[in-house]
Amino acid sequence: MLNRYLIHGDRVAIRRVCANDYEEITALTRDSAELHHPWIPRRDTSREAFDDFVARFTQPTHEGLVICLRQSGAIVGGVNINNIVRGSMQSGMLGYIAYASTTGRGHMSEGLRLVAQFAFTQLGLHRLEANIQPTNMASLNLVKRLGFRREGYSPGFQRINNVWQDHERWALTADMLPAGPRKATAT
Ligand SMILES: CC(C)(COP(=O)(O)OP(=O)(O)OC[C@H]1O[C@@H](n2cnc3c(N)ncnc32)[C@H](O)[C@@H]1OP(=O)(O)O)[C@@H](O)C(=O)NCCC(=O)NCCS
Repeated sequence: MLNRYLIHGDRVAIRRVCANDYEEITALTRDSAELHHPWIPRRDTSREAFDDFVARFTQPTHEGLVICLRQSGAIVGGVNINNIVRGSMQSGMLGYIAYASTTGRGHMSEGLRLVAQFAFTQLGLHRLEANIQPTNMASLNLVKRLGFRREGYSPGFQRINNVWQDHERWALTADMLPAGPRKATAT
């Protein structure tokens, strides 16, 4: 299936996640358990659960995106924009993951910046929020690198590994991201 890139940078490009990504994402997810599970809830890796996950993004309140290497198309990360609120808010909540085999190379920094450009220009959003545990240094470094602002602290914000974990609330508004998007190309 032809699945077009929405926007690209020098090394990575963004496209919507699709049902055909099941095997690639499941293998990456299984190899990344150690990286992910202090910080995000465990995901069911069955085909049915993945189909439900992809179906969620047919709603206007959710966008499911993957970050791919421009050269090969290989998936190196995932970003969801959840709980999109329109009207006078125009905001969405971010969830994002890198994968163990390609983490720490700047792909997420480039990819999340592209997601923000896409959200602010093509989706018409005004604000993106990220909620991060205070000890998740890789995630805090990522949002700081992109210019997010720390807005506050939310005790017991999300249940992860059976514990209600405190999170810091960080956000980026459209006026804080200067660079414009690049032209999209087909995969
Ligand atoms: C949070 C997470 C997505 C960050 O991913 P990441 O791989 O560190 O992000 P990047 O791909 O942008 O890599 C950044 C690192 O690569 C380095 N790097 C190498 N080349 C780079 C380049 N060309 N550009 C930018 N950074 C580069 C940076 O110095 C940085 O390392 P540092 O944080 O030690 O300074 C990842 O750690 C993850 O998936 N964690 C588990 C899930 C999670 O916590 N999700 C978020 C919940 S709030």
